Amino acid sequence: MRIAVIGTGYVGLVSGACFSEFGVTTVCVDKDTSKIERLNRGEIPIFEPGLDDLVAKNAKAGRLSFTTDLAAAVKGVDAVFIAVGTPSRRGDGHADLSYVYAAAQEVALALDPDRYTVIVTKSTVPVGTGREVARIIGETRSGLDFDVCSNPEFLREGAAIADFMRPDRVVIGAESDRARAVMKALYRPLYLIETPIVMTSLETSELIKYAANTFLATKITFINEVADLCEKVGANVHDVAKGIGLDGRIGRKFLHAGAGYGGSCFPKDTLALARTAADVGSPLRIVETVIDINDKRKKSMAGRIVAAANGTVEGKRIGILGVTFKPNTDDMRDAPSLDIIPQLQRLGATVQAYDPAGMQEAEHLLPGVVWCADAYAAIQDTDVLAIITEWNEFRALDLDRVRRSMKAPVLVDLRNIYNPDDMSAAGFTYTSIGRPA
Ligand code: UGA
Repeated sequence: MRIAVIGTGYVGLVSGACFSEFGVTTVCVDKDTSKIERLNRGEIPIFEPGLDDLVAKNAKAGRLSFTTDLAAAVKGVDAVFIAVGTPSRRGDGHADLSYVYAAAQEVALALDPDRYTVIVTKSTVPVGTGREVARIIGETRSGLDFDVCSNPEFLREGAAIADFMRPDRVVIGAESDRARAVMKALYRPLYLIETPIVMTSLETSELIKYAANTFLATKITFINEVADLCEKVGANVHDVAKGIGLDGRIGRKFLHAGAGYGGSCFPKDTLALARTAADVGSPLRIVETVIDINDKRKKSMAGRIVAAANGTVEGKRIGILGVTFKPNTDDMRDAPSLDIIPQLQRLGATVQAYDPAGMQEAEHLLPGVVWCADAYAAIQDTDVLAIITEWNEFRALDLDRVRRSMKAPVLVDLRNIYNPDDMSAAGFTYTSIGRPA
C-alpha cells in the first residue's frame, strides 16, 4: 500500500510515521520548505516521545519520506490523507476549512485519472466537510475515480504513538465497498489485534470526533465544578472521582480536577461543535455552558495564588512550575498559564518559572517572566510556589530543599499532585483543588 499525507502538523506527522510503521509506503507533504528540510535531516518539529525514533527507523527503511511536491507525492497512491490545520476562525469560532479545501483542490489537479484513489479527511472537520471535499474534487477535475472517507484521529499529545498503534477504536466514514476495502487494508495490523472498527457514514464519523472531544471536555468540567463544591462542603474531590469513576458506566478517566482544560483540541472543538449545532437549530446548551465555565475557570485560577499570598501579590515573587497545557508536550495553546501568569504580573508580582519543554514556545507568549534553568531555580526566594502543569519531575521534589529555599513555604497545587496531609507534615501552607487543607 502507498499513501500520501498532506500536512506535517501533529496529526499528519504522527499518522504518517505510524502508517509507515504498519508497512505502508508513506510520503508526507508540507508547503513549509524549512519544515520538510528539517524532517529530511531527521529533526522532529514537535515534541512527542518516541516520534524521532519511529521517523528515523522508517525513513531509513525507505517507507517514509518528506517532500514539498504534492503533485509528485500523490502519484500512484492508494489513499491521500488530508491532515492540515482547522483552526478556530477569528470572530465566529467556526472551524476554518480553507486549508482543507485548498488541499482538496490541489489533490484533484494532481491525481492519476487512471487509478482509483481514496481521499481521507483526518483533520478534525465539521459535519458536511467530507461531502464538500468530494464536491470540490469533482468540480475541479472531471473523470477522476475517487471516494472520500472520514477517519478522525483520537490521539493525545504526549501519548500519540501508543494511541495510534493501540487505539480503543478506529472510526471510518466510508460509503462504498472499494473505499472500505482500502481503509481496511491500511489498518490491517489493527484488525489483527481485534481493535473495534466503527464503519459509518461520512457525517456520522465527522460528528463522532466532535462528540468525543466535547464529552471529555464536559466530563472534566463537571468534576472541576464538583471540586469547587467540595471546597465549600469539606469533601475530597479525589475520592469523589474515585467513588463515581469505579462505576463502569461513568469510568475513572478524565475525572482529574484541575486548572481547566486547554490544548489545541478541546477549546477549539467544543466551540466549533456549539456553533454548528446553533447554526442548524439544534443548540447544544450543555456544551455552550462547558465552554463558558472553562474560560472562567482558567481566569479565576490566579485568584487562588493571590489568596495564598494573603490577598496581595504586589511586590512579591511567585514561582511557577509548568506552563504547557499538559505534561509531555511543548504545546502552549490555550494553556491555563496564559491566563494565570499575566494576571499575576498585572497585580505587581515578579513571576519566575520553569517548564521542562515549553519555555522556548512560552517565551514570546509570556513576556516579563524570569525563565529558570530548573525547578529549584524557579522556587528560589519565592513567596508562593504554584504548580500549573503536572510534569512527573514535579511529583518528587525534595520538599526540605523547597521549604528552605522559599521565603515562606506556601504551595498552590493546581493539579493535586501532592497529598495535603504530607504537605502539612512537611511544614507547608498548602492549597489544592477540591480537597480539604
Ligand atoms: C485530546 C483528546 O484526548 C484526544 O483523544 C484527541 O485526539 C485530541 O484531543 C485531538 O482532538 O486531537 P489532547 O488535547 O492532546 O487530546 O490532550 P488531553 O490529554 O485530552 O488533555 C486535554 C486537556 O484536558 C488538558 O489541558 C488536560 O490538562 C485536561 N484534563 C484532562 C484535565 O484537566 N483533567 C483530566 O482528567 C484530563
